[in-house]
Amino acid sequence: MRYLSTRGHPDRKRFSEILLEGLAPDGGLYLPEQYPKLDVAALAELRVVLRDQGYAELAFQLLSMFIDDIPAVDLRAMCRRAYNREVFGTEAIVPLKPLDDGLMLQALSNGPTLAFKDMAMQMLGQLFEYELGRRGQVLNILGATSGDTGSAAEYAMKGKKGVKVFMLSPHNRMSPFQQAQMFSLQDANIHNIAVDGVFDDCQDIVKAVSNDLAFKGRWHIGTVNSINWARLLAQVVYYFAGYFQATKDESQRVSFAVPSGNFGNICAGHVARMMGLPIERLVCATNENDVLDEFFRTGTYRVRKTAETHETSSPSMDISKASNFERFVFDLLGRDSGRTRDLFGHQVERQGVFSLSTDEFARIGSYGFVSGSSSHANRLETIRDTHRRFGVMIDTHTADGLKVARPWMQAGVPMLVLETALPAKFAQTLVEALGCEPDRPKALEGIENLPKRFTVMAPDVARVKAYIEAHA
Ligand SMILES: Cc1ncc(COP(=O)(O)O)c(C=O)c1O
Repeated sequence: MRYLSTRGHPDRKRFSEILLEGLAPDGGLYLPEQYPKLDVAALAELRVVLRDQGYAELAFQLLSMFIDDIPAVDLRAMCRRAYNREVFGTEAIVPLKPLDDGLMLQALSNGPTLAFKDMAMQMLGQLFEYELGRRGQVLNILGATSGDTGSAAEYAMKGKKGVKVFMLSPHNRMSPFQQAQMFSLQDANIHNIAVDGVFDDCQDIVKAVSNDLAFKGRWHIGTVNSINWARLLAQVVYYFAGYFQATKDESQRVSFAVPSGNFGNICAGHVARMMGLPIERLVCATNENDVLDEFFRTGTYRVRKTAETHETSSPSMDISKASNFERFVFDLLGRDSGRTRDLFGHQVERQGVFSLSTDEFARIGSYGFVSGSSSHANRLETIRDTHRRFGVMIDTHTADGLKVARPWMQAGVPMLVLETALPAKFAQTLVEALGCEPDRPKALEGIENLPKRFTVMAPDVARVKAYIEAHA
């Protein structure tokens, strides 16, 4: 299996070559040259794999279709270390929770940081450690976080050989729970830097350090950003696991509703569908930041300016530009890299907007995509309704997914709403909706009282660089 860039660069690379990379050299995103195609018999075999051997083996079988430069014995061992009861608290890893007839949640948030990002990050941690060991290299991951991504990266990388994490966060601006999650980690390879400033200051510092190519090279600085192909690939697996749990045989179809921001999660659903998984609809759910909903309704993709990006109560979906979206559009355009380069490399870069032709827009239906958006009032109402009728507490992002899913339901087609975080992470809005604190997993009770390990620093690039030099 070789990988190409959506913008037409002539290089063809193998999985391990793109694993530690971000964008392709021409600014495009990596995708496999072709998607493996599974017929009904192959799907039936995978159903048995999940039933008899569990999620880790299903992950191994699917990942093997895309990774041919890691020996099977090693890849299987990594899948087992990433996906087990100890890490995810359940044997099923991604169990379904039925709500209404034909409507269910797929729990993706049972990992260490209570959000679906663990599903990909846990595998990425295994793959990074393995590949760095094989090459005899080290990697210093530098990132900025307002809470979620940083903690998923730290929990995936903690204790891994060859990897250190330097995570910048705005001092005293994360929730006490988020702070406790990150700062209570005592692993020597995890460095929490609490910057006296806001999230943008943290991000500016990361950009400044990464733009200093000499520093970046000397200190082996890398990232774990959401455009990484391996992250997306790991997410493909739970679409299969959801499908097999919700159906009895391969003649049945299901739909998925996906709370979306950067379009990573739902893009994994698109890949699963391209492989032949019988997915009827992929419902793209946004909050008030409705860049993607607007696109699916009109064919116009218009990125927002920072001032136009709303701060909402489903904050992980507050995006102005969907960094993974180019992958889907490349497929939609029949893999025309010239047209993709024009839309993303020129039109989005220069004018912040592009519109599909009528003919291009008409193709969207055959890819199963539909969409909708949700507001703060919708979230509160959906959280209340779900709690009242089913006794289930959901978080604000999952509420966006559930609200948008309902009008797209069809008789005889199960609708799986991806639960992307647990309510404990967004306690303030849960209290607003229900008047009580959300449930918290037993293991995390009292986490705020654990000893914390972090360094407070002025928003100063030179000081961050000096810290990295001293600890890398
Ligand atoms: C809880 C939660 N829900 C939904 C999303 C959106 O996922 P994506 O950015 O892959 O579309 C994110 C990620 O940013 C998230 O953290």
